[in-house]
Parts: sequence; structure tokens; C-alpha cells
Amino acid sequence: MRTVIYPGSFDPVTNGHLDVARRAARIFDKLVIAVACNSEKNPLFTFEERQALLNETCADIPNKEVVMFNGLLVNAVPRFEACAVIRGIRAVSDFEYEFQMALMNRELSSQCETLFMMPSPEYSYVSSRLIKEIALCGGDISMFVPPTVAQAVYRKYGVTPKK
Ligand code: PNS
Repeated sequence: MRTVIYPGSFDPVTNGHLDVARRAARIFDKLVIAVACNSEKNPLFTFEERQALLNETCADIPNKEVVMFNGLLVNAVPRFEACAVIRGIRAVSDFEYEFQMALMNRELSSQCETLFMMPSPEYSYVSSRLIKEIALCGGDISMFVPPTVAQAVYRKYGVTPKK
């Protein structure tokens, strides 16, 4: 039984995250999607909201579990009996930060291996941060996130999208 952990803020989950999650779930027996709850960022969605959106949009992934984690990722890895961490790399610009984080995590825990996965190129420029910015200005985010996520973002901002 091989479990992999896919950590992130998922604030909110995007089509890029879902693409990586589906790819990872095909390779491993179990995919633990771990929502970080104590990141320094000020999230738009609560943990419960992010978990609900992930559960809804990953309903087609039977071997997944959506959990929350606090504190260091290296401590969450053994807690969920994961053999590796998955991180998505959209473009070369992601690599430097991800490389640093992967090595730092392995320094903190020699067992903590990180695997990088590339989402489909059509998602290479999709980011939760930009989606929130576009939605706040009433822009169309329907091609970047599932409909349920788009509705949740607009609702949070009290914005009606301009079509
Ligand atoms: O989706 P994000 O915001 O890029 O995810 C980053 C995340 C949550 C995976 C990362 O910040 C993290 O692992 N945070 C937990 C705290 C931790 O372990 N920090 C040390 C990293 S070397």
C-alpha cells in the first residue's frame, strides 16, 4: 500500500491542482490531499470550505482523502503514512522555490522524499492567487477552476462576474 501526500494551501483548488491530483492518484494506492492550516498566508477560505471544495471537485478520485495539517509538513508525512510528497511544477519559475523546500524538508527529515509532477501545459499559468485577483475585479475565472469553485469565490467577494 503506497500512500502519497499532496500538500498545499488550495485557496482555492484550481484545475491545475486537480490535474496533478488525478495524475498522482493513478500512480499511488492512496492520495492524501493535505490542506495547510497554519500557513502565514491569510486564506480566503476556511479549512472546512477548502476541504469541502476539494471533496466535491475530487469526487471522481476514489482513492483520495482530504485532510488538514498544522505545523511542519515533515511531521504530517509519517502521520498519514505517506512514502513521498507530491508537488506540482507549472513552469521553471516554480522550480527554485520547490527545490529549496524539498531539500529543506529532507534536511529536517531524511525520510521525506519529494516528487515533482507537471500539470498539463494548459494549466501552466493558473494560480490560486491570480484567480482570486481576477474574480475580485469581476473577471471570468470559469476556465481555471470548476464551476462550484468559481461560484464560491464570487460569493466570498460578493461579486457578480462580468460576462
Ligand atoms: O500551495 P502552497 O501555498 O504553495 O503550499 C505550500 C505548503 C503549504 C506546502 C508549504 O508552505 C508547507 O509545507 N507548509 C507547512 C509548514 C512547513 O513545513 N514549512 C517548512 C517548509 S520547508
